[in-house]
Amino acid sequence: MKNLARVLAMALLPGLALAAENPDWAYPATPKPAPLDSVVQKQVPGSAKKYTQAQIDDGFNPPDWFPDEHPPMPEIVATGRKPARACALCHLPTGDGHPESSSLAGLPVLYLVRQMAEFKNGGRKGVRANAMIDIAKAMSDADVRAASEYFAGLKPGVWTKVVETATVPKTYVGSGAMRFAAPEGGTEPLGNRIIVLPQDAARAHSRDPHSGFIDYVPVGSIARGKALVAGGGSGQTVPCAICHGAALKGLGEVPGITGRPPIYVVRQLNDMQNGNRTGSLAELMKAVVAKLSIEDMVAIAAYLGSLEP
Ligand code: HEC
Ligand code: HEC
Repeated sequence: MKNLARVLAMALLPGLALAAENPDWAYPATPKPAPLDSVVQKQVPGSAKKYTQAQIDDGFNPPDWFPDEHPPMPEIVATGRKPARACALCHLPTGDGHPESSSLAGLPVLYLVRQMAEFKNGGRKGVRANAMIDIAKAMSDADVRAASEYFAGLKPGVWTKVVETATVPKTYVGSGAMRFAAPEGGTEPLGNRIIVLPQDAARAHSRDPHSGFIDYVPVGSIARGKALVAGGGSGQTVPCAICHGAALKGLGEVPGITGRPPIYVVRQLNDMQNGNRTGSLAELMKAVVAKLSIEDMVAIAAYLGSLEP
């Protein structure tokens, strides 16, 4: 009996290990920060403003390159309230965010408020949720409300370009947990990953909200994703429009899922599958993700990312 249990355990182990594994590429880790330059005045096209890299990466006063292009930011968004860092640092004043965080522009107020509660109460504890957990725990209800109303009121930008390819530039994970092309050049097979590069590395380092990203996805993934999203595949999942709205741009408190950063979408589907993202309404996603492989998640994220936000 004991032996049988051991044999069974051995047979099951590889499968369990596989299910619990996170695809590293979707969870970029910030390398040790290098000292920031506080001398060179940087600029971005179309803005008269100048900031040093130390000012650009200041968690309590990040840059606002185009103040005329958005409504006045509440204090919590623009400068944060110690110890909660400013939302604009990682999500940008436009709410389009960087791929290693998330886009927030145009999401429903009640959805945003609920997510802050989930970060605070342990409903969201994925590998990349740590920054948000600390911030959510440090925020007052009034600041959660103000930030949610600000981001919900913004129109999401066309921020990513999804490109199908078999090979990608060699990359490394640099500052802000963003990927950049390797200085030595070269290419490598993409495999079953999504590799994200800024359209302009210098402008991404400057947190320029006018310069977006390119998501390299496997050949054929957009069409595969479309079949899963629209028809549920052959029973792998549930058609998304039932809850996310006919155009997938959100319905009531359910968030829009088009034009969002694809690696963020993969992370969320995977976190919901492995139990790192739960919550009252996330329950509804359980049946959607239960049978998805990482390949399915990549395809779904590629297709959704290729649609207008
Ligand atoms: C240091 C960077 C950083 C700062 C500052 C930051 N965030 Fe985030 N935020 C993240 C990351 C990273 C994620 C993605 C977490 C994940 O993948 O699980 C995220 C995700 C979110 C989400 C979930 C979005 C969704 O679609 O479900 C919300 C809501 C959010 N942040 C709100 C805020 C607010 C409000 C502030 C300011 C008070 C803020 N964030 C400040 C990094 C940051
Ligand atoms: C039965 C209803 C239902 C169906 C069907 C459904 N969803 Fe969802 N989905 C939700 C709800 C509700 C949430 C918000 C959860 C929360 O508030 O915590 C959500 C959240 C999400 C999120 C997280 C968004 C974010 O900003 O973090 C993604 C990604 C997502 N769904 C993708 C999909 C995809 C892809 C499909 C189809 C394959 C799908 N959903 C089908 C109800 C559904």
